[in-house]
Amino acid sequence: MSALPSLTIEKDLQPSLQEEVYVHDVYNEIAPHFSQTRYKPWPIVETFLKNRPKYSIGLDVGCGNGKYLNVSEDLFIIGTDRSSGLIQCGQEISKNQYNLGIADGLSLPHPNNMFDFAISIAVIHHFANENRRVQAIQHILSKLKQKGQCLIYCWALEQENSRRGYKEGDEQDILIPWVLKKNQKKAVKKGNGKLHNDNCNDRKILGNDAKLDEDEEQDPPEETKYRYYHLYKKGEIAENALATKACKIVDQGYEKDNWWIIIEKI
Ligand SMILES: C[S@@+](CC[C@H](N)C(=O)[O-])C[C@H]1O[C@@H](n2cnc3c(N)ncnc32)[C@H](O)[C@@H]1O
Repeated sequence: MSALPSLTIEKDLQPSLQEEVYVHDVYNEIAPHFSQTRYKPWPIVETFLKNRPKYSIGLDVGCGNGKYLNVSEDLFIIGTDRSSGLIQCGQEISKNQYNLGIADGLSLPHPNNMFDFAISIAVIHHFANENRRVQAIQHILSKLKQKGQCLIYCWALEQENSRRGYKEGDEQDILIPWVLKKNQKKAVKKGNGKLHNDNCNDRKILGNDAKLDEDEEQDPPEETKYRYYHLYKKGEIAENALATKACKIVDQGYEKDNWWIIIEKI
């Protein structure tokens, strides 16, 4: 089956409204299904976490179902996400053992200058304009101690070898389809319209998180939801990070359709 086409975003939508409709609402609608695809740590993220000094305290901003919160027993990590549905999944998966909270990445509830490190994996690309993406990085940095490091991943524009085939010169602000399968839709609807997360952790259905892919395809599709993404060009996360004037770049690279960067608070 070929991929569903991506759509171009309406340019005149207010950025916060665009995020509400094409990011937050959608993650809540797809939360149990999305959660099933998120359990395997991405290698560079795992290495970053395992390289933190013992007993460091850190943040996972936009933690989804919290899949990075138990990568290392030697760390104390607080995960926050704007999606109550995904936080509910994280609580279910961890039997309430993860340190989770619902928060927007632009207004984190934590004290400033407190944390040793942070990660924000595949989140910043959901902010709807450059100013908000820079602000989001700046806000994470404000929570770190001086010399605290942060690992950020964003989906890449340059992914010519992927099924979607995005490439330099393509539109960067797009709506990406997420196809909900029939039985998944039922699962979401159970419980009188409330999110029902019985199967947040059911990995039988889909298991291609390891591909670092952001979309899934089933046949036949039941319902397609669209999430807003800003696809990052090479060097663009570094530009956003340096625009904060609050960090230096430690390392950066590309891994399977994503750009990543490690920055350090100055
Ligand atoms: C592609 S998922 C990645 C989740 C998780 N970091 C992972 O690696 O599995 C994007 C996540 O960003 C969250 N998100 C999007 N916008 C956000 C915002 N403004 N504040 C906090 N979280 C946000 C979504 O709810 C979703 O959980």
